[in-house]
Amino acid sequence: MQQAGVWNVGIAGCGIGRTHIAQGYARHPDKFRVVALCDVDAGRLAAVADEFGIAHRTAAFDELLRIDDVDIVDICTPPHLHVAQILAALSADKEVVCEKPIAGSLAEIDRVMAAEREMPRRVLPVFQYRFGNGMQKAKRIIDSGIAGKPYLATVETAWKRTPEYYATPWRGRWRTELGGVLLTHAIHAHDLMTCLLGPPASVFARIATRVNPIDTEDCAVASLVMRSGALVSLAATLGSQREITRLRLCFEHVTFESGGTPYAPGDDPWAVIPASTEAETPIADVLAGYRPIATRFEGLLGAYHAALVTGSPLPITLADARLATELATALYHSAATGAAVTLPIGPDHPSYAGWRRIPG
Ligand SMILES: NC(=O)c1ccc[n+]([C@@H]2O[C@H](COP(=O)([O-])OP(=O)(O)OC[C@H]3O[C@@H](n4cnc5c(N)ncnc54)[C@H](O)[C@@H]3O)[C@@H](O)[C@H]2O)c1
Repeated sequence: MQQAGVWNVGIAGCGIGRTHIAQGYARHPDKFRVVALCDVDAGRLAAVADEFGIAHRTAAFDELLRIDDVDIVDICTPPHLHVAQILAALSADKEVVCEKPIAGSLAEIDRVMAAEREMPRRVLPVFQYRFGNGMQKAKRIIDSGIAGKPYLATVETAWKRTPEYYATPWRGRWRTELGGVLLTHAIHAHDLMTCLLGPPASVFARIATRVNPIDTEDCAVASLVMRSGALVSLAATLGSQREITRLRLCFEHVTFESGGTPYAPGDDPWAVIPASTEAETPIADVLAGYRPIATRFEGLLGAYHAALVTGSPLPITLADARLATELATALYHSAATGAAVTLPIGPDHPSYAGWRRIPG
């Protein structure tokens, strides 16, 4: 196992896994080398392995774990496989990177967190949208305390998904995708929101399946009260002809507006609008020393390498993924019961072990 220098990576799943290479690992040749690839689809495996010159190819996840050279296992398989694959990779003494959603319930993610505590290796959940300069500057201003009282935020995830997207059998089914637009798509923007505003205290949600003939939801709205007292409105759909992801956060001394880029909402430019001329100077002071970061997968993996080498906390932790899972649990429970849900959600909550599970 490398402490400094180049860490060897084995990737399972060649869909977004290919993007992890192209937009992430390949941009850090001094930090990572993808040495092995795993996919049950032989054609896809060969195409991606050939494209990046990866010699070790396998259809069996267990074989990936048996490769001594592999320091990091990056899990990019369909959602229902993540928990078992993370636990197996930790047991095989591998560092783990895993795509969202990590788990389909709080009970499952608590099992993963317990396993991580017992093992020497750690799990990096993938929330690459946090690595954007607009998002990072807003966080810096908020964390410095100068934004003041958070009033209200709106979060929109308006994407477009067609029947071709759902031709992939695991998509659109509770058993395999584990959720719909709330869990698979809007999870990113919701993570940005909680990263900036902290955890929710109460949620009320409605969900519907209106865009595609699928089992999981593809439209959702929700009304949240955060622990800070701030109000938040979430809206998510997969039926928008123009795709946008947008956050708007109104604080006492400043309002933030993200750009609308659907798959990079954390990127610059964000509008930072001071409430008064007096608020301008402290904001300028806080941003004076700001050094732009690499964005999305490149930024996430660069920060990951630094944490691996130094043993410092990972840039995204299972606690972050747990908060996303807890919000999803609350939203689904509220939508199913028609009642508001109070957080935190403990093991005695009826949805702790999972939200609605419909076969298919
Ligand atoms: N962070 C992001 O922006 C982002 C974007 C897209 C997808 N994702 C997530 O990544 C995961 C994969 O999504 P995708 O769009 O790449 O799906 P995909 O279906 O395009 O790719 C998944 C791949 O995994 C392979 N696979 C299935 N079972 C396997 C197994 N047991 N062992 C090895 N390979 C196996 C499939 O053959 C397929 O090639 C999902 O959890 C999804 O939510 C994240």
